[in-house]
Amino acid sequence: MDNGNYTRRPRKRVTKKMAQRRRLTALAIIILLLILGIVLIANACSGDDKDSGKTPNKSQTTTTTTATDIAPSITTTTVAPTTVPPVTADPNDPNTITGISLDKYAVFVEVGQKDMPWVTMTPSTSTEKGEIWTSSDETIATVDHIGNITGVSAGECIVTVTSQNNPMIYAEVRVTVTDPNQEPANAVGQSNTATDTQVVTLTLTTDNETTTEAKDENTSSPEGLEVINGRTYVDGILIANKSYALPSDYSPGLDPEAESQFNKLSAAAAQENLNIYLSSGYRSYSYQNQIYSNYSSIYGAETADTFSARPGHSEHQTGLAIDVNTIDDSFAGTPEAEWLAANAHHYGFIIRYPADKVDITGYKYEPWHLRYLGTETAKKVYNSGLCLEEYLGIDSKYSN
Ligand code: DAL
Ligand code: ZN
Repeated sequence: MDNGNYTRRPRKRVTKKMAQRRRLTALAIIILLLILGIVLIANACSGDDKDSGKTPNKSQTTTTTTATDIAPSITTTTVAPTTVPPVTADPNDPNTITGISLDKYAVFVEVGQKDMPWVTMTPSTSTEKGEIWTSSDETIATVDHIGNITGVSAGECIVTVTSQNNPMIYAEVRVTVTDPNQEPANAVGQSNTATDTQVVTLTLTTDNETTTEAKDENTSSPEGLEVINGRTYVDGILIANKSYALPSDYSPGLDPEAESQFNKLSAAAAQENLNIYLSSGYRSYSYQNQIYSNYSSIYGAETADTFSARPGHSEHQTGLAIDVNTIDDSFAGTPEAEWLAANAHHYGFIIRYPADKVDITGYKYEPWHLRYLGTETAKKVYNSGLCLEEYLGIDSKYSN
């Protein structure tokens, strides 16, 4: 029965030890909750892209691979978009520049004068035809960003144009600067007047007339020599050297067969990752005169005669000679030069001025100068180990 009185539950006595245990338990729970919260927040942040379904901006994301042959470890880093050209261009990209050609590979200017080679980049469909121009010696000639070359002082240098899109692709221009205020080392053109007069005696033959006259009355005519319209042929091979000149009005242009064979040669070299390109082909009499005169005014006629032909005497005037790549000593010993020496004859060319025939050809070693003879003759000359003069039994000497 309830009589209105109640009995209070006696309070449990909390000991000091129990209280301490409870505090520790509460602290542990708080720490656990804090850790759980941190983990949840971190997960939520890292899942932002995935959750939103957006693809990352490709232009701002690059994948870098550490260099190891076994198992490349891949890390993803975000970088700002860049305009720096790729070091290696993708050959399958239709925008990748694969070739540069110029309308001229030699420029002659006086101090203060300008000239600008015209550049063609291939493929023509590429939208990335940026050019980078540099001069090997700005004290001789400067070049601006579009290829304006300006003469600064007398001398020679190389101007190079490189593709911005594919820095592996470039072309070079040999720049010769003359100073009109500087006394020429020798009176240009005077020393060969007698030779040219002598040539006239050869060019007096009427059209289509063939003669077997000797080019010099003091020497006997080599066997197989014919002069047709002022041009000298030995065994049917057109000759232009120090002994035999071409008429000044002979202007055949680059021989189409030689050009097509050169293209085959260049394509074969490209198969072996070698870049062989035409730097100087056909030259007119007046262009050769300009070249020789410039060299002569810089170096003097005697030195110029060791590497540059007097007008009328250059093989380039035959339309059958092609200079490739860098027309200077730096070309010797390059893989391209070695390949040419071993293979040019398969395409109908010979290295016309070999290193060991300087006294016979009359010119220093020119590993870049090819002469087209047709495959049959080129192979015979190559296999003979002789230079063209020896092979044909002719000489190469100016008469004065
Ligand atoms: N460099 C060669 C000899 C020429 O001028 O034709
Ligand atoms: Zn040449």
